Amino acid sequence: LRKSSTVAPSSSYVLRRGFSSELAPERKVAILGAAGGIGQPLSLLMKLNPLVSKLALYDIAGTPGVAADVSHINTRSEVTGYMGDDQLKQALEGSDVVIIPAGVPRKPGMTRDDLFNINAGIVKSLCSAIGKYCPNALVTVISNPVNSTVPIAAEVFKGLGVYDEKKLLGVTTLDVVRAKTFYAGKAKVNVAEVNVPVVGGHAGITILPLFSQASPRANLSDEDIKALTKRTQDGGTEVVEAKAGKGSATLSMAYAGAIFADACLKGLNGVPDVVECSFVQSTVTELPFFASKVRLGKNGVEEVLGLGLLSEFEQQGLEALKPELKSSIEKGIKFVHQS
Ligand code: NAI
Repeated sequence: LRKSSTVAPSSSYVLRRGFSSELAPERKVAILGAAGGIGQPLSLLMKLNPLVSKLALYDIAGTPGVAADVSHINTRSEVTGYMGDDQLKQALEGSDVVIIPAGVPRKPGMTRDDLFNINAGIVKSLCSAIGKYCPNALVTVISNPVNSTVPIAAEVFKGLGVYDEKKLLGVTTLDVVRAKTFYAGKAKVNVAEVNVPVVGGHAGITILPLFSQASPRANLSDEDIKALTKRTQDGGTEVVEAKAGKGSATLSMAYAGAIFADACLKGLNGVPDVVECSFVQSTVTELPFFASKVRLGKNGVEEVLGLGLLSEFEQQGLEALKPELKSSIEKGIKFVHQS
């Protein structure tokens, strides 16, 4: 079995048709915010995943249409749409994995933190329901600012007495997807073979790609590495500006979210050596949450892996990101205790 972080085989299910799912266990996946810009293509990609047996699509509006549409695809999972608060319980019950792309996206000129007030409340209320109706599910948070929404989710679960740090994961996969694409372009190597860890957080300078650990190796100049780092950090803004007021990354995010959920499902199913980057509770630095490579297994995050050797440039980036990441984490924690 290949490591999912090495050659990204986790995406291969999209291309694999006629897959026999006889050996794969039953797995229910719930998507909260399923009718949105990310939610719809993510629902499509999860419908294509043979590891899913039940797909619950929840949103405050629009899910019956999305569910009817996606349900006609002739793959394994049974799709059900749920709409509005009173159907949230049913959507969540029995879920093995919950994916949260609910919330408002950025517009040009906005930072991820500008989304805080609306999205913090949405994530808080959805996590309260998760804590009640499927406390054992693996929860993957896409809603921004991830640097704050993951600590918010943790505090909500703690308040309900159901917090398990192994089962709460912030989705930073899009940063990895971008770093791989940009690196392959610059290094002129086969993108399918590229691996680049991305650590830290998921906003601006807190996104720290470790190009010194990229494979296959390439002789890039310091200037190239600087430019690649900046482009990875600003990748989201690049899309926000190109969409000119119509939102942020949705298609590439759905792809990244689907890769990450697939890795989580593989881990739950006992596939060994499934490694992805994710923003999780961590002791890798002095900060309580941090993104780094994690090994996924039957209980969720089985091991948070260290940073490995950093270049001097990366070491500086690491020190520079800590104050911002710390304050975003604290902002999330404070939000739950104040509201
Ligand atoms: P969108 O506005 O197109 O969709 C959001 C969906 O959430 C809508 O369908 C809306 O009805 C739904 N929603 C709102 N409140 C809800 C609630 N209480 N329960 C269930 N559903 C609810 O936004 P888009 O583009 O899909 O983005 C969603 C989130 O993902 C944003 O916060 C965005 O910043 C974030 N994002 C995260 C990325 C990452 O790398 N982690 C990358 C790109 C976006």
